[in-house]
Amino acid sequence: MSTLEANQQEKSKDLNSPVKIAVANGDGIGPEIMDATLKILNAAGANIEPDFIELGEKVYLSGNTSGIEDSSWKAINANKIIFKAPITTPQGKGYKSLNVTLRKSLGLFANVRPVQALTPYVPSHFPEMDVVVIRENEEDLYAGIEHRQTQDVYQCLKLITRPGCERIVRYAFEYARAFGRKKVTCMLKDNIMKITDGLFHKVFDEIAPEYPEITSETQIIDIGSARLAAKPEDYDVIVTANLYGDIISDIAAEIGGSVGMCGSANIGKNVAMFEAIHGSAPDIAGKNIANPSGLLNAGISLMAHIGQTEVGDKVKNAWLRTLEEGYHTADIYREGVSKQKLGTKAFADRVISNLGKKPSHFNESELSKGKGQINVPDYARKEQKKELVGIDVFIDWKGTDPDIIGNALEKIEAYKLRLKMITNRGVKVFPNGLEETYCTDHWRCRFVGVDQDNTSYAPIEFDHVLALLSKISAANFDVIKTENLYNFDEKRGFSLGQGE
Ligand code: NAI
Ligand code: MG
Repeated sequence: MSTLEANQQEKSKDLNSPVKIAVANGDGIGPEIMDATLKILNAAGANIEPDFIELGEKVYLSGNTSGIEDSSWKAINANKIIFKAPITTPQGKGYKSLNVTLRKSLGLFANVRPVQALTPYVPSHFPEMDVVVIRENEEDLYAGIEHRQTQDVYQCLKLITRPGCERIVRYAFEYARAFGRKKVTCMLKDNIMKITDGLFHKVFDEIAPEYPEITSETQIIDIGSARLAAKPEDYDVIVTANLYGDIISDIAAEIGGSVGMCGSANIGKNVAMFEAIHGSAPDIAGKNIANPSGLLNAGISLMAHIGQTEVGDKVKNAWLRTLEEGYHTADIYREGVSKQKLGTKAFADRVISNLGKKPSHFNESELSKGKGQINVPDYARKEQKKELVGIDVFIDWKGTDPDIIGNALEKIEAYKLRLKMITNRGVKVFPNGLEETYCTDHWRCRFVGVDQDNTSYAPIEFDHVLALLSKISAANFDVIKTENLYNFDEKRGFSLGQGE
């Protein structure tokens, strides 16, 4: 059982004891929209107790480059739920992104962004759109491991892990089950990245059958995002890796027409954080004109997350009803569509007066139709047999003729290790390359174990690799890095070169 579940279970022993949440009022319009949101949630009967914490601009400007006080960390660790209004990150050097800090240090692995079209009150070409993008939040190209390896070549490591995939995929299906969603679409580029994105796809295929009541499908990210942009009403829940999710969650919010109205959640094993997707809007701060809807939607997700789905539905229905009645804040107010322009406080009061009422144009909120709870089990590693069968030696070489480096390296052997091929930017250039292939100064030279009957990828020892490397170095080649080639349970754990 996760700490969160234990926490919730303990809390539910006494149904009347409120769920404590760490609340950050934020900067700019933050305090106004948080005030309005909490007022609505309380009026709807939310059983929560805010524990206000300091983070953001003031903390940054006091000289704390992380933007968050130690006492706030304590409150977050004690309460496990953060409700955060937008903050202002001061311009200038040395200030670290608070969101990145929170996401990384609290292990918030899932970013959840629901987007629902609100036409005709907020213009969108897709009135039927109602999509939730669930983005893996910690891995992929965002690990920040980048290197310059030669004069001309730079690399960024893409890390995809089995526990990471299992967690996010299961979260997506559990989310669908918890909140009555019907389909989960997985989007990846595994036709190209067969090992990394391929793992994500494989895990998706493994887990999907455990949720027979939920339709599952996979799409290649390029065509998938194109279809999402053209027919978003075909999608329900989308689960994807970090970079793709970063992009398509913004596409979804944009085509939904309601960037200013979306909330998002960052979910970890123990801690979860809820916020609006817009910023602190310093241009309209303190004027009582900001729209609290983005933060309110985050609050609705928070209610669902802590099992108070009925409160979430009640607030959502009242909010939708208020929009339908034409009571709009200045940012969405339009002559002919809106009835009355309201300030932040008056809008909140309107929503409160609609609590208990249902929308008529929009579908009713259905958070409490599902089972409410999300359970993601801990990862259990299954040990596999790992066998070293070769090594990719990356060499910085300024020549242009692959046959020159190829012929030189073919003469170098150590134990069973022999040169199998050389690629340049992934394309095989030796032996038998094409003259047209452009070669840069970054040569991937694959040496593999070869046994008596000339079979490649025979098992080798790492000592053989060391012997090989010292011979390559002695021949005056500039080795910039190596990558071991392993089989796991007899299955190849590396890609073949294009043309190998
Ligand atoms: P912004 O989202 O704050 O504002 C963009 C435009 O949208 C402005 O014209 C603003 O008035 C309007 N707007 C935003 N939210 C609104 C609301 N609830 N009601 C009515 N109008 C609204 O983005 P901007 O100007 O790029 O950033 C301002 C500050 O917010 C920056 O310091 C930025 O770092 C920070 N920011 C913080 C985020 C967070 O805490 N999660 C996320 C994005 C930006
Ligand atoms: Mg982004």
